[in-house]
Amino acid sequence: MSGGSRPLPAGFAEALIGWQRRDGRHGLPWQGTRDPYRVWLSEIMLQQTQVSTVLSYYPRFLDRFPDVSALAAAAVDDVMALWSGLGYYTRARNLHRCAQDVVAKWDGQFPRTSADLATLPGIGASTAAAIAAFCFGERISILDGNVRRVLTRLLAFDQDLAQAAPQRLLWDLAQGLVPTGPQGDDMAAYTQGLMDLGATVCTRSRPACALCPVNDLCEGRRAGDPTRFPVRTRKLARRFEAWWLLLVERPGQHGTVEVWLQKRPERGIWAGLYCPPVFDSRDALCAAAGAGCAEQLQDGEAVAHALTHRELRLHPVRLACAPDADPPMAVTLGAEGGRWVRRDQLAAVGLPAPVRPWLVA
Ligand code: ADE
Repeated sequence: MSGGSRPLPAGFAEALIGWQRRDGRHGLPWQGTRDPYRVWLSEIMLQQTQVSTVLSYYPRFLDRFPDVSALAAAAVDDVMALWSGLGYYTRARNLHRCAQDVVAKWDGQFPRTSADLATLPGIGASTAAAIAAFCFGERISILDGNVRRVLTRLLAFDQDLAQAAPQRLLWDLAQGLVPTGPQGDDMAAYTQGLMDLGATVCTRSRPACALCPVNDLCEGRRAGDPTRFPVRTRKLARRFEAWWLLLVERPGQHGTVEVWLQKRPERGIWAGLYCPPVFDSRDALCAAAGAGCAEQLQDGEAVAHALTHRELRLHPVRLACAPDADPPMAVTLGAEGGRWVRRDQLAAVGLPAPVRPWLVA
């Protein structure tokens, strides 16, 4: 029951397209357009982020950057500021780089094939396929995490997706399911149908098989337990880390408060965002704050923050400075891009979401 040897189920694409038209999601702001800029932006935002969250960010982003040349011409800090709170910030930097490549190398027009789209920064194979299918009707399958789940269940595909060869085989099988007949024009409905089925019916732990338009074709269901699929032996190991953040504040002019922020390195967690200085222990934070400051440090309540590969425990520690004070020397040493930011201007800088409430309060 590997999924490799048996024929692919006939009628899958037709059933999926019919279902999408009837019962799928409609009226999302990135649907009903073939503008690759809009579709690309939505697909990048929707990677690892829920539709409900993207719904508020997407129109704001489009308002500010209505087309690819506006985005390409923007300062990267402005892009990061608008992205702030969506997480996975590499996406925002790649978004900016991609816009610049489209302008510089493609004459301001997104390329029209998935193969060319996949050469651009931040556009992986599945995202390239989604854009090409939605905008240009290319007969190419997407295969993101949700679709992997749908198709491994449909085919009772039990090979280990932690391995490269089964991954390639599943891509081939996905491609074999793409509509080839007259419904080939329906690549947008087919692609949206795969996404909708994964998001609303064929869910991770409690699939609603009774509502599924292809339940009669589903080998995973026939085998008794569709949730056995997909098979992946390598489990994600999250590393635990404690982070100590020094929130240095001073009174600014006209009753404002300023906070000391530093730009995070270009690689790693919260890359390129503005953030209070981070230390890996309270002792290191105290040492940086200086001997004279130890008594003035105020510990706030720690919060947990889970990332893909890390489980962070964030400890805020406040230090109130005098007006016109500089932050302690050891804090600024080696920190590029450190600056005082007025509290009422925090919205203009990209901040990590869990840090924002500590700074605005
Ligand atoms: N997730 C990824 N792409 C999507 C889309 N176009 N609509 C809804 N959810 C999605």
